[in-house]
Amino acid sequence: MEVRKAVLPVAGWGTRFLPATKAMPKEMFPIIDKPVIQFIVEECLDAGIENIVFVTGRHKRPIEHHFDINTDLEKHLENAGKTELLKNIMEISRITNPIYIRQKEQLGLGHAVLVAEPVVGYEPFIVSLGDVIIKDEENILTKMIEVYKKFGKSVIAVFEVEEKDVSKYGIIDGRHIEKDIYIVDNLVEKPKVAEAPSKLAIVGRYLFTPRIFEKLKITPPGKGGEIQLTDAIKLLLEEEAVYAIKINSRVYDTGTPLGYITTILDFALQREDLREEIIRYIRSLIVEIPEV
Ligand code: UTP
Repeated sequence: MEVRKAVLPVAGWGTRFLPATKAMPKEMFPIIDKPVIQFIVEECLDAGIENIVFVTGRHKRPIEHHFDINTDLEKHLENAGKTELLKNIMEISRITNPIYIRQKEQLGLGHAVLVAEPVVGYEPFIVSLGDVIIKDEENILTKMIEVYKKFGKSVIAVFEVEEKDVSKYGIIDGRHIEKDIYIVDNLVEKPKVAEAPSKLAIVGRYLFTPRIFEKLKITPPGKGGEIQLTDAIKLLLEEEAVYAIKINSRVYDTGTPLGYITTILDFALQREDLREEIIRYIRSLIVEIPEV
């Protein structure tokens, strides 16, 4: 069955960014001039997926406005002769087919995915986290869809982290079957360095068979009373194979203050109009800042 839909869970509280996230979704934070969520939507569109299911919450309305048509702004840009900006604004509101569904209580990522079941139906679908940007020459979702077409089962994207960082991620225990592809035996959430089965960390891109919904319905609440997606994948593993694809891309977790700052810095350094000035500024700081 064709993969036609992507679920983007964006209903979380974003507590690590309070008070900024009290009224503003962290998924709308700008990476210079583009909100995080737009990168994620563009990745879906590039992979040929136009049905984007946003799982939102009551404080997430700016996301809906961002992907809607704003005729007043379009008229203003047209009158001002700002054609490039106009094109940019029109593109993102017109090519996406957004579907919004509310997670009424923030009961965890797994719960957010389950909320999308009535919209997804009984077909395979993508889940992309609303705060993780992946930078790659090749589209990672396209690669995941290829793996799905080959094996017909769920696929999770992983990337290799340094040993000292394994305790920050969900880590897979898997067997290498072909270039960059693993068959998953188990998942361990935030293991201690000594107990980690590998250095392959789950990155926030998943392709699920619809059977994941059955598993989410019977997943008991885990840490913090939340329904964890990882626990549901473990239940899925008891019944059907799950594959992992190792990506060699840059992964930007914008959901933490440090991750957000480094993302902006990296993106600024890649922009011709900003690069030189930024480097000059950083150099001046390094001269001033004593060693830590
Ligand atoms: P995070 O754990 O990073 O999000 O979830 P959070 O809960 O918003 O952040 P903190 O930990 O309080 O700072 C990853 C993604 O899953 C969504 C979030 O919006 C984020 O994009 N999410 C999380 C939901 O949609 N619902 C939830 O109940 C939890």
